[in-house]
Amino acid sequence: MLYGIYKCKLKITLFFILTLYCINLNSQVPEVKIGDEKMQWFQDAKLGIFIHWGLYAVNGIDESWSFFNGYISHEDYLKQTKGFTAKKYDPEKWVELIKESGARYSVITSKHHDGFALWDTKKGKFNAVKSSSAKKDVLTPFVKSLRENHLKVGIYFSLPDWSYYDYTHFTRDSIRYRIADNPSRWKDYLNYYQGQIKDIANKYNPDLYWFDGDWEHSSEEWEAPKVRQLILDKNANAIINSRLNDQGDYATPEQGMPITRPEDKYWELCMTMNDSWGFQKNDHNYKTSDQVIGIFTDVISNGGNLLLDIGPKADGTIPDEQVKILKDLGRWTNKHHDAIYGTRAGIPKEHFYGPSTLSKDQSILYLFIKGNPGGEVVLRGLKNKINRIWVVGEGTKLSHKVVGNVYWSHYPGIKYIQVPDYVLDENMTVLSVLLDGKIDLYREDGSVIQSN
Ligand code: GLC
Repeated sequence: MLYGIYKCKLKITLFFILTLYCINLNSQVPEVKIGDEKMQWFQDAKLGIFIHWGLYAVNGIDESWSFFNGYISHEDYLKQTKGFTAKKYDPEKWVELIKESGARYSVITSKHHDGFALWDTKKGKFNAVKSSSAKKDVLTPFVKSLRENHLKVGIYFSLPDWSYYDYTHFTRDSIRYRIADNPSRWKDYLNYYQGQIKDIANKYNPDLYWFDGDWEHSSEEWEAPKVRQLILDKNANAIINSRLNDQGDYATPEQGMPITRPEDKYWELCMTMNDSWGFQKNDHNYKTSDQVIGIFTDVISNGGNLLLDIGPKADGTIPDEQVKILKDLGRWTNKHHDAIYGTRAGIPKEHFYGPSTLSKDQSILYLFIKGNPGGEVVLRGLKNKINRIWVVGEGTKLSHKVVGNVYWSHYPGIKYIQVPDYVLDENMTVLSVLLDGKIDLYREDGSVIQSN
């Protein structure tokens, strides 16, 4: 009996020691908790439009990097403030176009690495109102219009500000100071940049914060956990991208479409339409609308979002090539919305040689078909019975045949779906395959059948 009490006390003591140890551990390494609930809209949204708008559109040169890399002096780079007129800027028209593309959110560069801000910053004067020919806040009306159109608001913010006198880095070959040599100057910078974030939080209360440039300093130096906290204190549902060091909610692969399915539960591929983020009149290397749609389906097939970039001109107009891609994308997403929004990643490629998605309850499989499949498409190893197949956004019901499904084997056979030419979409045809329940895939190697 005494021994029993003693054992129990020991257990309680051990429990307390362990708890204290865990609390201590937690206080050292702030744990980032990603609420699945707050990520819901993001996971359902699939398409966002990225906007790189800034001084660099004037000369049509690399955003910020052009002076950082020494292609132009900082002094000459700044002269672009004169050409940044926003004369024909129509934020409502931008949002109309973004909406038409089928995007459910947009992320705009409130401030790129060059430090030029699109809104009237409380901290610093290097912004569209005080330092450019535009002489107006070009961010606020855009955010307002997004909200009015029920699109989610994403704000891109560069942690580095290469133009600011208290920031460490200036160009690739010159650094203003090292933090270790001048910690109080760094404190001033922290105060400045975090002040701008607070300003953004209070003014716009974004749904999503898209940070960039964290690679120039460590999480500790940026005070990343503190920044995450100040954002969440304002809005517990705010989503933060991965570029706030270790403090982000989702991964942001850039330009390169992941070939294999990323392990991250939430991710977003950001990609340019040509080879530039901002407007560059000399860059004609545009992807075709067909290619953009192809990449988009690969992305959603792997469970991600596409954040497709546009680079408006300095007068606020969007280049024709970009408008065309957005409109083409819009035609396609509008026709096929059932197969896109709110879906989840599709099935492994061994079962269907193309992109696919699944309805949230996993009972509808959407197959994306590029070009003309020559009369039929093949589905391998699907154990479910198919109740119905139809062409999404077109309506024709299709028939299918099962081959190789003998009654003495549990191998489900191969399903051939007949696809007549007349149902084909000019970019990508989508089939909706209604199953008899949650999808069930045959993943075995196959074996000898010992009794027929
Ligand atoms: C990079 C670049 C930047 C661009 C961003 C978009 O990190 O520094 O110029 O804005 O990617 O993803």
